[in-house]
Amino acid sequence: MRSTAAAASASTLASLLLLLSAVHALPELAIAKQGGRLVARPLARRDDTGILANRGTLSTNVYDILAYSGGGAYYANVTVGTPPQPQVVILDTGSSDLYFDAATAPACEATGPYSCRDGTFAPKDSSTYSVAHPSPAFNTSFGDGSSATGPFGQDVVGVGDLLISGVQFGVAEAVNSTTGYAIGLMGLGYSANEASAYNPTPFLYPNMPEVLRDTGVINSRLYSVFLASLAEISGTILFGGVDTSRYTGALTTLDILPDAYSGAIDQFISTVTALSSTTAGQTTNLFTGGSNNANAYDSTDTALPVLLDTGSSAWSVPTSYYNAYLAPLYPFVDTSGLCPCSYASDSSVPSLIIEFGGRVNITVPASELIVPIYNSTTDEPEIYDTAGHAACAFMIVAAEPNGSGFQTLGDAVLRSMYVVFDLDNGQLSVAQASNSSTDTPSVIEIPAGASGIASALSQHSYSAAQASQTYSIAAEAQSATGSFEVSTAQSTIGVATGSAAVPEDAQIGATGAVSGGSGSATGTGSAGAGATSSSAASVAGGGIEGFGFGAGVGGGGGGV
Ligand SMILES: *[C@@H]1O[C@H](CO)[C@@H](O)[C@H](O)[C@H]1NC(C)=O
Ligand SMILES: *[C@@H]1O[C@H](CO)[C@@H](O)[C@H](O)[C@H]1NC(C)=O
Ligand SMILES: *[C@@H]1O[C@H](CO)[C@@H](O)[C@H](O)[C@H]1NC(C)=O
Ligand SMILES: *[C@@H]1O[C@H](CO)[C@@H](O)[C@H](O)[C@H]1NC(C)=O
Ligand SMILES: *[C@@H]1O[C@H](CO)[C@@H](O)[C@H](O)[C@H]1NC(C)=O
Ligand SMILES: *[C@@H]1O[C@H](CO)[C@@H](O)[C@H](O)[C@H]1NC(C)=O
Ligand SMILES: *[C@@H]1O[C@H](CO)[C@@H](O)[C@H](O)[C@H]1NC(C)=O
Repeated sequence: MRSTAAAASASTLASLLLLLSAVHALPELAIAKQGGRLVARPLARRDDTGILANRGTLSTNVYDILAYSGGGAYYANVTVGTPPQPQVVILDTGSSDLYFDAATAPACEATGPYSCRDGTFAPKDSSTYSVAHPSPAFNTSFGDGSSATGPFGQDVVGVGDLLISGVQFGVAEAVNSTTGYAIGLMGLGYSANEASAYNPTPFLYPNMPEVLRDTGVINSRLYSVFLASLAEISGTILFGGVDTSRYTGALTTLDILPDAYSGAIDQFISTVTALSSTTAGQTTNLFTGGSNNANAYDSTDTALPVLLDTGSSAWSVPTSYYNAYLAPLYPFVDTSGLCPCSYASDSSVPSLIIEFGGRVNITVPASELIVPIYNSTTDEPEIYDTAGHAACAFMIVAAEPNGSGFQTLGDAVLRSMYVVFDLDNGQLSVAQASNSSTDTPSVIEIPAGASGIASALSQHSYSAAQASQTYSIAAEAQSATGSFEVSTAQSTIGVATGSAAVPEDAQIGATGAVSGGSGSATGTGSAGAGATSSSAASVAGGGIEGFGFGAGVGGGGGGV
């Protein structure tokens, strides 16, 4: 049933995509994620005039297919190679590499619940592929125990309506997925966490946010994620801009919490400073007054340091917090973290109000926390009890914080949030996600610089950070060998080659040694724009260990 519906609509989608690329506009597409029905429908198409036309931002849809893994993940369609090979990638703010599963990986040649799915990459079938660093230069592992190794390759990658040549990515010639099908992944974190082996020396390379900025497609390393509610068909990731129709109330900018040990900004860590529950208009504070600073890492502080991680499905909290605050609110959740799905629509089940950074509250309805689970072999709903009730997973899980002391806050909560990930400024801007699917998109391009969001949103409800960042932001790629070219079906948008492909500020590195010499930037893009706030970069070299916790495909986890 599922596959039939999916196949029918996939062809509808393909023809729609063709249509959209022919008119040379940035498409936003919606794809069904529930019940196996894939339905394509155009949401919006930007016009070809003015500030929003074809540059400054880039968007693509993200969608969840719950049956793919326990609890789901968010996926985007991209292409790689010449001719383009379609790939589905998990969108992961908790790691930093783009990778595809190689067609020759044993897991991809096998069948079964842990095999590869939705696109594998055959380098030999691409006329533009080259090996950038031989295997096992790419070697990554994730919080859920999954791992992938292989070479780093370089090829044309298609995102939205753009084709970008010279993009580096991992080719997973060996891939182990522990929580479901193996699917490629697009890591959108700081390049400092890239999974480049020390082979022979650690190296960083421009990853997707940097490539898009370096080529002038976007002005700074910034993107906005709108996952949409469980009931929605799809959300979007918008590079370089903010869509003011996708949230309610004020967008509030928070400083990222520096890493507990290095003191640098290199992962999307925020603080949960208070937690309340609300039922039928009655609000109860569960805890308040947590620190919005490094004290949050102290286990005696009431604040929780959290990694905003689209690659994790659940929110992991310390067992003590779970037992003190959550178990009493949701007593129907069994020791396996499961419950009958009927609680998702029970109005007596409380919603959570989560306060971030001491400054912004996000309401998460119980219906977003209680999600149906499916058998990964049959795609049929799991049954909870002998009476035949459908089984749901409760997406807040108890787990001890490891490593750097933070825990992952995944899709279960992020669905209720609109989050702007601003890598250049080391900030996260947060608002309550809109729950309406009918709003007309209203995209605002964000200029580079420390006050980029504030100036772009001056006509909107906006709350800036109280203090600007004073600590260092992780170094960008130091390799000066990047050479990218970006085009749509009809015209070149921006080109940056040689050292111009790597912003000056990114080249400071540990020793300042930059090879690659001269380069040039042409086209409407300006290579290197917006890197100013990275000039304080002090963390050099890759391989800062990232930890991911909790259920979820590709959960957390940066380079090894
Ligand atoms: C996007 O991914 C879905 C899920 O695999 C697939 O069915 C669909 O054909 C893809 N669309 C395109 C245009 O590749
Ligand atoms: C990947 O890294 C892990 C951890 O350092 C190591 O144990 C493993 O051997 C590496 N894999 C390959 C293929 O080199
Ligand atoms: C991956 O899975 C295969 C087959 O189950 C196993 O032989 C191999 O040791 C695993 N590799 C890692 C790195 O876990
Ligand atoms: C968040 O909501 C709680 C409960 O209503 C309230 O006590 C707290 O002051 C709110 N925080 C902010 C920043 O509005
Ligand atoms: C999924 O379905 C298969 C085939 O019916 C069955 O063998 C397997 O036990 C099921 N898995 C779970 C976790 O229920
Ligand atoms: C949508 O959000 C509004 C307020 O932002 C709220 O009043 C309404 O109940 C929400 N609707 C649903 C279906 O969650
Ligand atoms: C934390 O570390 C412990 C001990 O190494 C391990 O058993 C546990 O699975 C880890 N928890 C998470 C969420 O990774």
